[in-house]
Amino acid sequence: MTTTKPRAANAKKPAKPAKFVGLAIDVQSADITGIDTPALVVNLFRGVKKPAGATGAVDKALGGVISQLIEDGEIKGSAGETTLIHTQGKIKPSRVLVVGLGPEDTFDVQVVRRVSAEVVRFLRRKGISKAATIAHGAGIGGLDPQLSGQAIAEGAHLGLYKFGIYFSKNGDSSTEFESLTVVELDKDRAKAIESGVKLGTTVAQASITARDMVNEPANHMTPSKMAEAAQKVASKQKLKIEIMDNAQMKKLGMGAFMGVAQGTDEPAKLIILRYEGDPGNPENNLGLIGKGITFDTGGISLKPPGGMEAMKGDMAGGASVIAAMEIIGQTKPKINVLAVIAATENMPGASAQRPGDVVRAMNGKTIEVINTDAEGRLVLADALWYAREQGITKLVDVATLTGAMVTTLGKACTGVMGNDDTLVQQTIDAGKKTGEKFWELPMFDEYKELIKSDVADMKNSGGRQAGSISAALLLAEFVDGAAWVHLDIAGTSTSDKASGYLVKGATGVPVRTLAQLASDLADAAATKKPEKPKSKAKAK
Ligand code: BES
Ligand code: MN
Ligand code: ZN
Repeated sequence: MTTTKPRAANAKKPAKPAKFVGLAIDVQSADITGIDTPALVVNLFRGVKKPAGATGAVDKALGGVISQLIEDGEIKGSAGETTLIHTQGKIKPSRVLVVGLGPEDTFDVQVVRRVSAEVVRFLRRKGISKAATIAHGAGIGGLDPQLSGQAIAEGAHLGLYKFGIYFSKNGDSSTEFESLTVVELDKDRAKAIESGVKLGTTVAQASITARDMVNEPANHMTPSKMAEAAQKVASKQKLKIEIMDNAQMKKLGMGAFMGVAQGTDEPAKLIILRYEGDPGNPENNLGLIGKGITFDTGGISLKPPGGMEAMKGDMAGGASVIAAMEIIGQTKPKINVLAVIAATENMPGASAQRPGDVVRAMNGKTIEVINTDAEGRLVLADALWYAREQGITKLVDVATLTGAMVTTLGKACTGVMGNDDTLVQQTIDAGKKTGEKFWELPMFDEYKELIKSDVADMKNSGGRQAGSISAALLLAEFVDGAAWVHLDIAGTSTSDKASGYLVKGATGVPVRTLAQLASDLADAAATKKPEKPKSKAKAK
């Protein structure tokens, strides 16, 4: 007889390493030179010879070493520049990190976000897991302390972000950066900073929800998994949710969306989230519509293989809409927000639609499918119309819609198109607050020629000219007079490198702007003058 060894599966499993739960940020009202910390972060504007304020106090306590480094040209104060100084017992903190803020006249919250991210990444690289910092800009910089606290939290959380769940061993074994203390002597200002930190953390965590979804490979982020992610957000934030399957969508007549979905065996989902922030005024509403192509092969108009893996991120618009709802559910603006995400794969299966096919969208309009790779506009056409039928009067759609967008604007800003100057401007302005940049492209009637079809009401590809605009013009056919803005995030949804609070991979753009816009629209509706009584006749 042979003796059997105990199977490996019976062997005791090695203890899993403690899971890193993320960065904790607290606020303390204290004198910075007395803080017991491995690193104290102070700052400096470019060109300043003699530091003042908190940095000046530290310089003095260290016998003028910061002034000396400035004089010797080693510290210039350029944005993100980092200089680490050991204090050798002269003050309580073991090290001082001087971070440059750049020129004082261009300083704003966006600089704080970037600098905050660069600082924590620098410290992590050095193997330092804890630090204390002054609230950048809240002193000499003239920023509202709450906004400074928010920007510090956003920058730090987003800058430290890593997508590491698929490394079987503990990925990289580098130290995690675990704890940041914002120090402010004045109690009232410390309170304001604290509420900013809280909001910034909420906002950053939601952006990370979006980043995680976008970074997930398509075999793990299917339409069903996207629906599950939305379900999680809905239960946590107490939002209403409805998930429609293929049969329900067919019944509603969503022929444009279903044409795309017929090429895959993976069930498609229409994900509908509702936040009711002003239930008494149903017309005070906003619709957020997201493209949720969990993988875009191009379909029968197959994409070339080079770089196709990036198409796992073709659901970034949908992810950003779900994540924005996560913020909205917590900040609770006085407005009703409906989110609609059209989720499917775009695959060249045996029953896939063919070039030349004509599909009928939910509003009855027909579309000739010239190119099955122009699938985003097809799924969005039905999602936009669905939102319209739900009574939505202001629409914002978000989509990685066109490669042409990457050619036109690169990765620095998101392309904006729309039919309503006010809503376009409100979106751009919301972006100025969040630091997410937007640039408007024209929607001149002349471009409509591009999507004229010989056999249907329109065609889904306008050829080589003005590719982002012709895509938007197709969407415009499905908004039926509502104010509408289209955000093409094909370039901005991912980054090729770590820079400021962005890291390589998904960016989470435009989650923060969508939430800011909802809040700005709620404020605008609240301050709108009450309408004059209608019964009164006009005075001659
Ligand atoms: N998802 C792509 C657009 C895209 C390209 C996003 C690169 C991110 C990075 C979209 O579905 C697409 O394939 N668009 C086509 C449209 C064309 C066939 C009219 C494109 O841009 O080539
Ligand atoms: Mn495509
Ligand atoms: Zn696509």
